[in-house]
Amino acid sequence: MQTRGFGEDCRLVRKAITGDGAIEIRDSRIPEEPHDVLQEMVLRYFRQPTWAKLQDERLGAKHDVGWTPPFTEWTKFHDVLEVMAERGLNVRPHAVKHKDPKERFMWRIGDDPDDTAFAALHAPQVVPAAFVKDWKRKIDVYFPHAQRAIFTMLEMLAVGYHLELNFFTKLLEHGPHLFAPTGVNLAQLGEPGTVHAALHRDIGFITAHGRSNAPGLFLWKRNGERIPARIQKNCILAQVAQQLAHVMGGQGLDGMHEVVAVKEAQPVIERMRAAGEEPWRVSTTFFFHMASDCMIAPLGPFRTDEALAKYPPIRVGDQIMYELGITGVG
Ligand SMILES: [Fe+2]
Repeated sequence: MQTRGFGEDCRLVRKAITGDGAIEIRDSRIPEEPHDVLQEMVLRYFRQPTWAKLQDERLGAKHDVGWTPPFTEWTKFHDVLEVMAERGLNVRPHAVKHKDPKERFMWRIGDDPDDTAFAALHAPQVVPAAFVKDWKRKIDVYFPHAQRAIFTMLEMLAVGYHLELNFFTKLLEHGPHLFAPTGVNLAQLGEPGTVHAALHRDIGFITAHGRSNAPGLFLWKRNGERIPARIQKNCILAQVAQQLAHVMGGQGLDGMHEVVAVKEAQPVIERMRAAGEEPWRVSTTFFFHMASDCMIAPLGPFRTDEALAKYPPIRVGDQIMYELGITGVG
């Protein structure tokens, strides 16, 4: 966001969130170095042999902590196509014939509630054995920058609607926010057109897509246009997820997106190979969530009879467990 005056910027945030459900936040307070340090650690993590990563898998926690193997997360594709038809989106995504080949690591951030009805969403953390000294520290160095950028944007969204500054951010208190990086081995899955993550909407409140080390993320705008995400330095791409869309009674667009191998990633692959490294595409994604035991429903000016009929109240933990059950996609 370029500064044009605070009021004008807040109107632009509102327009982006309601229009396309996504906005690239340029925040000079976001330093590059901690992000790149984090990205490098994530690369080293995913480059480990499978046997090492298998130690970090927690099936009992529905993969909500630790490592998620390739071909585990999946999208109920017919449902996604139905949503697309409902929204009049006519640029079809890549067809999928299998579960997503991307791997993931889930790391929860913030304090856990003293008591929760959703213990599975607060399972004990997994610290990868080869990263004991650095894992938490490197995430903790970068996360506050990402959080501040996201919270500032949400405050601006509130101002754009003439609401209290903390109208949206207060909903995120005590939420089980996640650092949820993904990894794909481009030596095996770099053929252009190979789907890494099938079309889906994220299930949390808002997603912060960091600058990936290779292109491949595509978003659908409300008008049906499919656009590549090009995230610049010092920037974060914020995308509305299902909880925020629910609170806004659908006025915020929980945006569709997919990740696909593209030919533009070839220079990245060649650079890594020249350095003697296995070519992996990794993301540095954060999912912001509402607290698991809160009720979620359209609020304030978004609470109309029409919105309540389409977005009935539901406990956040139930919404997450339901979505994890039908999509397996965070
Ligand atoms: Fe996603």
